[in-house]
Amino acid sequence: MLRAHEPIAGAPATTGAIEVRRVTKLFASRNGSAGVEALRDVDVDIRPGQFVAFVGPSGCGKSTLLKLIGGLLDPTAGRITVGGSEVAGPRRDIGVMFQAPVLFPWRTVLENVLLPIEVFGLERRAATEKARQILNLVGLAGRERAYPRELSGGMQQRAALSRVLVIDPPIILMDEPFGALDEFTRERMNLEILRIWQEGRQTIVFVTHSIAEAVFLADRVVVMGTAPGRVLAVIDVPLPRPRSIDLMKSPEFAATVFEVREYLGVAR
Ligand SMILES: Nc1ncnc2c1ncn2[C@@H]1O[C@H](COP(=O)(O)OP(=O)(O)OP(=O)(O)O)[C@@H](O)[C@H]1O
Ligand SMILES: [Mg+2]
Repeated sequence: MLRAHEPIAGAPATTGAIEVRRVTKLFASRNGSAGVEALRDVDVDIRPGQFVAFVGPSGCGKSTLLKLIGGLLDPTAGRITVGGSEVAGPRRDIGVMFQAPVLFPWRTVLENVLLPIEVFGLERRAATEKARQILNLVGLAGRERAYPRELSGGMQQRAALSRVLVIDPPIILMDEPFGALDEFTRERMNLEILRIWQEGRQTIVFVTHSIAEAVFLADRVVVMGTAPGRVLAVIDVPLPRPRSIDLMKSPEFAATVFEVREYLGVAR
């Protein structure tokens, strides 16, 4: 059986390491007033296969940083390399999942999942089989021919996730992917992500507003501050793997959550 992490023929082999070096991002204003310094001097190192979560207040530049790593924006200063080469635009070895599931309403679930196959001009037949396997994996078997409007929000997110997994990127960037889901669905999706990561050992960069979610999922939590957006702290999560929901009851979990909270200045 094909698994989510088995490469499609021709998939690039990269190590999945991410290096962000002294990255600054300024957004110029349109009317001549001072622009926004979304990020200042950000340094981040992410090792291949690591699961790293980013937390921080609204506007601290999390989405901006993710877009820079994904090659959807250019840094004003500094340098970002992924798998040893400088990021200069969207790439096949980097899959991006946004907060809102960006699905095309006129395409079925399967056709949406196959979109990157078309974009990158990959062989469609093997990919279709793989897409079906992945939809099965994320619990969307039987919904291949449904249209996005016929799916719940959680199902749409799972379709968006399938679209990332179909090209098997060694690096997956996720911007608050489950922020709009109810607590239970979100928990299920978190376990799903951990299972996929456990199997495929992708490098995952995961932005969230939930400290508990960050600690539950990640090897390291990067805490960011605002005005200008910058890294305040990097916290290693000392929790064993594989992780189950029960882990959230442990004193180690609570202690790590509290440590992150303190850096965010919301403790006490
Ligand atoms: N395209 C853009 N043009 C101008 N300013 C922008 C642009 N994108 C982001 N910004 C500004 O950069 C700063 C960082 O925005 P960003 O979206 O990265 O924050 P965030 O940490 O993802 O916030 P949230 O948690 O609310 O999603 C904000 O001040 C925002 O207004
Ligand atoms: Mg954001």
